[in-house]
Amino acid sequence: MSEKQPYRTSYHFQPQQNWMNVDPNGPMYHKGVYHFFYQYNPYAATFGEKMVWAHSVSYDLINWIHLNHALEPTEPYDINSCISGSVTILPGEVPAIFYTGIDDKKHQVQNLAFPKNLSDPFLREWEKHPQNPVLTPPAGVEVDNFRDPSTAWKGEDGKWRVVIGAHHGDEGKVILFQSEDFINWTLYPIPKPFFAIDNTGVECPDFFPVSINSTNGVDTSVQNPGVRHVLKISHQEKQLEYYFIGKYDSDHENFIPDVKFTGTSLDLCLDYGNFYASKSFFDYAKSRRILWGWVKENETSQDDIKKGWAGLQSIPRQIWLDKSGKQLVQWPIEEVEKLRGTQISIKGEKLLSGSTLEVSGITASQEKVLFELPELERAEWLDASEVDPQLLCSQEYASRSGIIGPFGLLALASEDLTEQTAVFFRIYRAPNRYVCLMCSDQSRSSLRKDLDQTTYATIFDIDPNLKTISLKSLIDHSIIENFGERGRACITSRVYPSLAIDKDAHLYVFNNGVQSVVITELNAWSMKQAELGHEENVGSS
Ligand code: FRU
Repeated sequence: MSEKQPYRTSYHFQPQQNWMNVDPNGPMYHKGVYHFFYQYNPYAATFGEKMVWAHSVSYDLINWIHLNHALEPTEPYDINSCISGSVTILPGEVPAIFYTGIDDKKHQVQNLAFPKNLSDPFLREWEKHPQNPVLTPPAGVEVDNFRDPSTAWKGEDGKWRVVIGAHHGDEGKVILFQSEDFINWTLYPIPKPFFAIDNTGVECPDFFPVSINSTNGVDTSVQNPGVRHVLKISHQEKQLEYYFIGKYDSDHENFIPDVKFTGTSLDLCLDYGNFYASKSFFDYAKSRRILWGWVKENETSQDDIKKGWAGLQSIPRQIWLDKSGKQLVQWPIEEVEKLRGTQISIKGEKLLSGSTLEVSGITASQEKVLFELPELERAEWLDASEVDPQLLCSQEYASRSGIIGPFGLLALASEDLTEQTAVFFRIYRAPNRYVCLMCSDQSRSSLRKDLDQTTYATIFDIDPNLKTISLKSLIDHSIIENFGERGRACITSRVYPSLAIDKDAHLYVFNNGVQSVVITELNAWSMKQAELGHEENVGSS
């Protein structure tokens, strides 16, 4: 690994070296220990032909102990890679890994593995099942596009169900299999797939219930009138995590999304930035559903090889159904707060038009800011149905004055502001409603011009009586995870500043709207380093 490592993070999960495609694989809580498996190429900082399931464990989801790999390509049915999959906890607290193997014919097949020794608290060793592969590509599915089994759930009839991503020609699909014993699986005989979508492959599907009236999570098998269901797909073409809230009828294996996919900005994404191949799990310890996602590099492969590693994980996020029932809400898990150090607070400060205020004295930071809005009626007009938010954010950039906004943060900024990642809001009046445009602008994130300069964006409705709007940002050397309006809109960016490094990374609050906004409250913390180490270095307990 090269010596200067300005882009390694302080508190995001990452391996010591080499590539994480980092699809999160099979996250779970088991008898007091959180387990995290992930796609990993042990041989290089690039994508590999022999992917393994790397394995780490934790007591708090923030500090991690790296263990030996849980699954490596060893058998004809996975000799060309052990790629993504999930864990299901079977009766008797037996975790089962369901994963895709790339076999000796380069076909994608599904396999099972179980812990070798259930009394080992870290479940270090895993045994592949003698009946593998338990599933091969069915008719109507391309042999090299049949992958990523979800966590399984049990229906009222006692049968297990699992969904798998697939692809055939222009059609991406999610197909469902059933099993009585978790070993023998059959394709559910319906004329149409569980879910289908045009012009893309589907990877890493996730299917889970969410409570209607609570922020608590529920086990994946729960089906009752108190829950709705969520289907999430990784859209291979757009590299985005789309999700659909709907009604699941297990008698007919029918999932009816409330709203259909439109291919426009109206579709719901877990994160509108750099966040892919996500996976959730139910945390029995704290009755919550937790989501992980892979945050890629935006540098070139040569840069990755030079720095000797690639890929990060998002901070685990708690997810639940918004009170409106129309979308999910996400928030970083509370455990991340354990790393908070020095605190800086600003209260009741008015940000006049064109003003910038430094939040000084903090390093790798976590922060939360609440802005008090002016009267919304003053907002400028926008026909939001016709808008491409990404285009709008690049036209209405952070330094271009609006009426209400742009206002927000300039993160990982150099002192002279030549480098900065602007994360900001702008409020508009749309037909019969108000909307908020949220942007994360990477066009000035680095002096280097060969890097991705995408401006990520989303637009969402806001309550006409909204008095304040919140932004929470996890800023960590080369990643900025943003949670807009109390977790209703998320945008993650990876950036590679040349000047705004370590102590030279500044943070500002700004307002370039004609209307003033007030910082009702801003709290920012320097963050301590999370512990990430190999077992021999940290010891087991
Ligand atoms: C998504 C993905 C998965 C696959 C894995 C291979 O990032 O393409 O579909 O299982 O990566 O590493």
